[in-house]
Formats: sequence, C-alpha cells, structure tokens
Amino acid sequence: MCGIVGYVGKRDCTKVLLDSLAKLEYRGYDSAGVAVFENSEIKVSKSKGRLLELKNKLENEGWIDGCCGIGHTRWATHGEPSDINSHPHGNRRVSIVHNGIIENYQKIKKFLEKKGYTFESQTDTETVAKLLDYYYDGDPMYAIRRVVAEIEGSYALGMVFKEFPNAVYAVRKDSPLIVGVGKDEAFVASDVPAILEYTKDYYLLERDEVVVLKNGKAEIFDIHGMKIEKELQTADFDLEAAEKGGYPHFMLKEINEQPNAVKTTVTPRITDGMPDLSECGLTPERLTRYKNIFVVACGTAMHAGLVGKYVIEQLARVPVTVDVASEFRYRDPILCDEDLVILVSQSGETADTREALRLSKERGADTLAIVNVKGSSIARAADMVIYTHAGPEISVASTKAYMVQISVFYLLAFELAYAKEKIDREECMRLTKQLLRMPDTINEVLQKSEQCKYIASKLVNAGNLLYIGRGLDYALSMEGSLKLKEISYIHSESYAAGELKHGTISLVTDGMPVIAVATQRKLYEKTFSNVEEVKSRGAMVIFVTHENIKADSKTVDYVIGLPSVDDILMPMPAVVPLQLIAYYTSVLKGNDVDKPRNLAKSVTVE
Ligand code: M6R
Repeated sequence: MCGIVGYVGKRDCTKVLLDSLAKLEYRGYDSAGVAVFENSEIKVSKSKGRLLELKNKLENEGWIDGCCGIGHTRWATHGEPSDINSHPHGNRRVSIVHNGIIENYQKIKKFLEKKGYTFESQTDTETVAKLLDYYYDGDPMYAIRRVVAEIEGSYALGMVFKEFPNAVYAVRKDSPLIVGVGKDEAFVASDVPAILEYTKDYYLLERDEVVVLKNGKAEIFDIHGMKIEKELQTADFDLEAAEKGGYPHFMLKEINEQPNAVKTTVTPRITDGMPDLSECGLTPERLTRYKNIFVVACGTAMHAGLVGKYVIEQLARVPVTVDVASEFRYRDPILCDEDLVILVSQSGETADTREALRLSKERGADTLAIVNVKGSSIARAADMVIYTHAGPEISVASTKAYMVQISVFYLLAFELAYAKEKIDREECMRLTKQLLRMPDTINEVLQKSEQCKYIASKLVNAGNLLYIGRGLDYALSMEGSLKLKEISYIHSESYAAGELKHGTISLVTDGMPVIAVATQRKLYEKTFSNVEEVKSRGAMVIFVTHENIKADSKTVDYVIGLPSVDDILMPMPAVVPLQLIAYYTSVLKGNDVDKPRNLAKSVTVE
C-alpha cells in the first residue's frame, strides 16, 4: 500500500525517484508524486494515474532539477485517486510522503483547524504534513518527535524541510522502510528493489528510528536523537531478478520461476534425504510438543495454509486451524503455550497478519513465520522464521510465493509426521525425494502453457464460473478462483464439489464454465459424479487430473493431464495450469495483468 522513496546524492534526483518508484509501483499505482529541492525551494509535481503520467507531466511542464528529494506511488485509502490527494503533501516549509494509515487524523485535523490551518485534500497524510509544520521551529528532529508522539496508526514517512535543502528525513512504525547506502549517495525506500540499480547495501529501519540522509550519507537516530549503529545488510538478489527478463509480464516470469524457487527453498532444508528445519529452531522435540497448530494469513498465503492443513493433518495427525488474519485478530482466539501459530506472508508486511502475530505472542503461543522478504516486519517479530527463497515477487497476483509456501508446509508435515512416528523413515525419505524432484515435475506442467491459453480463450467471455474439488483439490480450487478473479475480473467461486447440490448448482446454466480439479484418487469417483451433475445441467467442463486417468469425453470438454506424483503432493503441479489459465484469460481480455485494478501487492493497512 503505497511506496515511498527518498534520495540524496549527486544524480538527477527526479530521475532517481521516478526510477525507484517504478520498482515500487506494485505497492500502489493510482497516483504518484515527487518533491525535489530546486534552488533551495521545495518543488512538487504530482499526478493521478500511473507513474508514466507523472513522468509525462514533468517532461511537459518542466523537470525539477535537484539532487535531494522524496517520492511516492499511491494506493488510495483516504480520498479518491486525484491530483490533489496525491502525495507529497505539505506547504512551502515542509513536504511529506506517507505509507500507512493515520487513525486519529480527524482529531488532529480539528486541532489544526482551530490553529488556522486549512486543508485541501481528503487524505489523512495532509494532517501529518500540517502537524509537522505546526511543530517545526527550525529543528526537524524535534518536530518529528512531537508528531510521532501524537499520531496513531501505521506509517513510514519521508520528509523534507525547506531550511534543510540537502537533507531527507524519514521515520517509520508498522510500515516498512529501508535505508540504502551507496558511494556519496543515500536512499530511503519502502522495499529493496527500489535501490538495486544503485546499491545492494542497506539498513533496516526499526520502529521509531529516524534516518537523516545528508551529504551523501545516512545517519540513524532513535526518537530521542541518540545516534544508532546498525548492521549493514546486503540484498541477496540483483536488479535482474526484479525485472521482467524478456517476459511480457512479471506474472508469467514468476510462474516460470517456480521450479527454481522450489529448488532453492527445499534443497537447503534436506539433510541425508530427510527434512530438516532445525535451522529455524524447529527441532523434532519442539515440533512434537504442539497440541494444536494455527495457520494465519491473507489471500493466497492463506490458501497455502489450507493445503498445509490437509497435509499436516493427513500425515502427522495434529489438528490444524486455518484463519484469515483479519478474522483471527478479532475473534478472540483461544491460544496457549502448547500451540504453534504459523504466519504465512510473501511480503512479511501484511497488516492483519502482523497483528495476528502480535496477538498470538501476547497469548503465549509459539510463532513461526513463513516469509519471503528477508528482514520484513513479520520475519523479525516471530519467534522462528523459515524464509522461502522465491526471490522478489512483483506481480500483484501471487504465484511463485504460493508454490514455495506449500513446499515449506510439505517439509514441515513430513518432519512432524516422522517425529510423531506417524510415518517411518523410509516413507519420509520417499516423500522428500518426490518433493526434491518437484522442480522437474513443475517444468513438465509448464509445457502445457499453450493448452492453458486455448482454454483461456474459452473463458474470456464468461460472466461467472465455478471451481470445484474435494479435499486438497478443494483447497487448490480456492487459489485458482482467486487468481482468475483478481486479474481477469471474471466472477468465480470455488466450491467443495459435494456441497454444490446444497444450493450453488442452481447457478449452473448452459455453457457455464466449471473447472473441476480431481487429483485425489480416493475421491475421484465422488468428484466425477459431481462433474456429471454439472455437465447434465449444461456446464462446459475443464477437468484437471492425472495424465493417466482417462475421463469420459462426453462428460468433460477439456482435460488437463498432469504428471503423476503422490496424491498428497499433487497441489504443486496442479496449481500451475490454474495460474496459467488465469494469466492468459487476463491477457486475452487486455487487462493490466501485473497491476490489476483496485489492488496493491503489499497490504500494509488494515
Ligand atoms: O504478502 P502477503 O503474502 O502477506 O499477502 C497476502 C495477500 O494480500 C496476497 O496473497 C494477495 O491475496 C494476492 N494478491 C493474491 O494473488
């Protein structure tokens, strides 16, 4: 939700800000703006729409020439996307960019109005800018301290003060911020890809720490102004990983990166053919202590948790509850110190998941984060962390992150099942071997891209469709349905196949597409009966199953045959055609695949 950047150095600041913002557009893309010092004045340019609109505006109306400034790409929370509501906000003395939500902004606004301030936007951010101006008496650190003491909510703020034309200030709480350091230049940014063109070295800014970029250097202070020395981090991926690399869209690139992502996530966690999660503190002794496991996450990450539930329960016989984080945090969950709460998040910054983590710790449960972004808030706050090594995921629609998240659940389930003596060593090694071979299996499925494209051509004009399955196939259908919805804008629902006749089957009419997933052989006959039920009501059936199963061609219209692995591992190959079908449907509809409307990659607000 919104990306912020700041730069101090010798380069063309406006260009650096625009280039860096382009790497953060996944965080929000409904408007953008910059504030850059030119001849010691703060010059602001902002525009509704994509970053390109801002660039065009700057090119047409006058580039801002300077070496120090801040920038923003927005995902609207307060106030529609418009030029006025775009960041930066402020006046001639101070200008700010903000990522997050200020919960008490109405109260602050009333206070400031009484002091004579007027407001032009509908944003919460403008109140922070004016509050900063109110407290600013020539000492930026003092003003920041006063503002931070008053505002409630989540924020990462980038700030410039007219009287300090060579400096950028930034502070954060609950929204991410990194501080990049190069030769004679320094940066702040919401995420590492923003700085990779210039440097791989960065510091992680913690809550209520203030960074000052000045003279090409970055100095970090606590909120009281005491200087802090921090450990320098080095990005473990390069710019290439955060670029399209010849693919038309990040989503397609990321779908194709799945074999490698699984390899780099799984291989280091295998010792002598057995899963080994001890690196994060999950020893067999610790694992077997847990009476209950909770998986808490949002969106696709939650769907990965659903696969985790089936797999852990089936193999290790430990009860697993999966919750949507925004529900979990308000449902007063019953937790104790014999419980393990697993938080799953690609970004590691999702506000609801972060709060669920805080609550779980408060209630005494052990917490384990399965996270992709190194050093992210959730990774840092959890008791234990397993990093998925998918590399940066830029497309708003998550694909490779899901794949690696479920691969971690398999490792966890195998290890737990073995530790609890539910499976023997031989079986554990056999399953682990299949997981290790999964990159090849996924590669095989990727060859079905053309077939998925053809099937997508049959879906483009659909108004509604259904995904059905049983057991693990049902869990997987949910992810297939979400993928299609978010990027193709076609309404779809995922249904437990056996539940259809309790109401939903009334929706099935002539030609309605139904994507039926049937990879669980012990449930195959049951699912197929449900497929027959929809077929006899006119559905167009797309059937996803093992390649050696021959489905009756009178019942199914299109079959996607998948290479066979153990049924329990089938979600890994089976999700690929669902991702590809969603991708091609979106492409054929002419949608902006990587930046679907109304969405943002990292949901850092509640
Ligand atoms: O960064 P996270 O994994 O915590 O994000 C969770 C969801 O916001 C995310 O998976 C979302 O549902 C994706 N757009 C789905 O493709």
